[in-house]
Amino acid sequence: MYRTHTCGELRIADKGKKVTLAGWVQKSRKLGGMTFIDLRDRYGITQLVVEADAAPELVEKASSLGREYVIQVEGEVLERESKNPKMPTGDIEIKVLNINILNASAVPPFTIEETSDGGEDLRAKYRYLDLRRPPLQRALALRHRLAQEIRTYLDGEGFMEIETPYLIKSTPEGARDFVVPSRMNPGTFYALPQSPQTFKQLLMVAGYDRYFQIVRCFRDEDLRADRQPEFTQIDCEMSFVEQDDVLNTFEGMMRQMFKNALGVDIPNPLPRMSWYDAMDKYGSDKPDVRFGMEIHEVTPLVQGCGFSVFDDSPYVGAIAVPGCAEYTRKQLDELTEWVKRPQVGAKGLVYVKLNADGSVKSSVDKFYTPEQLQAVASACGAGAGDLLLVMCGEKRKTQTRLGVLRIEMGNRLGMRDPHVFAPLWIVDFPLLEWSEEDGRFYAMHHPFTAPKPEHEKWFYSDKKEDLERVCANAYDFVLNGTELGGGSIRIHNADMQKRMFEVLGIGPEEAEYKFGFIINAFKFGAPPHGGLAFGFDRVCALFGGQETIRDYIAFPKNNQGRDVMIDSPSKIDQVQMDELFLASTVKE
Ligand code: AMO
Repeated sequence: MYRTHTCGELRIADKGKKVTLAGWVQKSRKLGGMTFIDLRDRYGITQLVVEADAAPELVEKASSLGREYVIQVEGEVLERESKNPKMPTGDIEIKVLNINILNASAVPPFTIEETSDGGEDLRAKYRYLDLRRPPLQRALALRHRLAQEIRTYLDGEGFMEIETPYLIKSTPEGARDFVVPSRMNPGTFYALPQSPQTFKQLLMVAGYDRYFQIVRCFRDEDLRADRQPEFTQIDCEMSFVEQDDVLNTFEGMMRQMFKNALGVDIPNPLPRMSWYDAMDKYGSDKPDVRFGMEIHEVTPLVQGCGFSVFDDSPYVGAIAVPGCAEYTRKQLDELTEWVKRPQVGAKGLVYVKLNADGSVKSSVDKFYTPEQLQAVASACGAGAGDLLLVMCGEKRKTQTRLGVLRIEMGNRLGMRDPHVFAPLWIVDFPLLEWSEEDGRFYAMHHPFTAPKPEHEKWFYSDKKEDLERVCANAYDFVLNGTELGGGSIRIHNADMQKRMFEVLGIGPEEAEYKFGFIINAFKFGAPPHGGLAFGFDRVCALFGGQETIRDYIAFPKNNQGRDVMIDSPSKIDQVQMDELFLASTVKE
């Protein structure tokens, strides 16, 4: 047996026991002839002490230990003279009687402690060393715990875990596919699944009623803090259900995960907000509802006063930032530059300061009386001491920009505590999104999403404005400004699916080529069905109080989609290229 106990286990009650521990040397230091060693494993750290009067070979061996050496020690549990209340094992230490060096270690490139002195790139290159650090171990332990909760809950609800293939045909989630050349079928390619969407629907046709899978998905898209090219979904589908059945089932799962993993109670039932309200009030389809600062339309209040910028805009909206009337000119100029960055895209920002003494100062004082500005302030629920920030332009674009500004102000004012959780459902999405650029409709979710039954009349209309009014039977689970999951009730009728392809400008031949298998399957008794998928990495990160998902994935990619540890993607040799019938056009 390598060890009798772990490095996080021994307590004062174990005093006097003879024990064997094994682990990594975190650090060692000499003090008045004694050698103190911190021994670490994934359970914790235990202090070892080699006393000054120990056998000279033992003292010498202890002195030879470098950081990250793997050792086994035998010794006796002693009560510490100077206890460390910050460590669970801080009341004891091990008087070392024997050391067995199991493996030496090169000097690690950064410190392997709670915080590290290594930069991001270095830690990514030595990910296995970074993974030894407690914050990452806690992150992966949380991920494991949540995965167990999910399986237990869904098993209890009668869901079956079924695997679906990775080498498939293009899926319709709207990102670029990763493709894999087929050696056995020259000149043809598999696509890696962007999600198991079509397969889970086929499982419903096959009668599997309630399916789930914690499954890897692949999307070749620009990366952000909450996006990885390969990520994991909690993918689910149910038959003979309506929207309420799906929402109730997965609210239940989330409730159990919050309770059992974090000890947090979330509201029962969860709030639901329509997409239209979310856009109007928060300028986002994933609103952070932990704080107010809602968007208010003030168009009628500001038009007709001679300020042509507002007069010529279809929409003027504002947010009231609490307690920021004291913002200086410099701060306001900086904020104006901030909203003009391409990431936000605003043309400008109008401010109204509601000074504590009741006076009003704005960047548009030339055009408006203090009373008129007070009326705008009242419409936004702003009072003395607050700062109104106003933007104008096309309605949805302006709301989106105000939404981005709202989040920024929320961050600056410390209103987005990562340990406060405000989950909700967003429902009633538009089914279709018109692209001016391409002159065609795109599915807002994916082409298998059904229209709301009461909107079917518009779905079959040829008028663009009718089609724009159709709401989808779709829903997103949103937490603290992040979309954690999304899904829909599906089309299960071949004629309706055909109509959907027609609306999306997918001709019969293209539909047959891309989705012939599923259209065909729907001819053989497809049950009414619906489902959803949560982004598991995002769930883990948010439960852990973080916005970036990278620490919750054992071996993630960097922002360029590279794994710098294994140096991938990388070239393949000519033999492999030839076998796959590939030729590179990249110039060396
Ligand atoms: P959707 O495309 O909304 O729906 O994806 C579901 C959830 O997956 C997460 N997600 C990601 N997480 C990390 N990195 C990414 N690149 C990434 N892309 C998406 C998000 C998102 O909410 N088949 C449908 C689901 C359904 O209709 O049942 C689908 O994939 O948290």
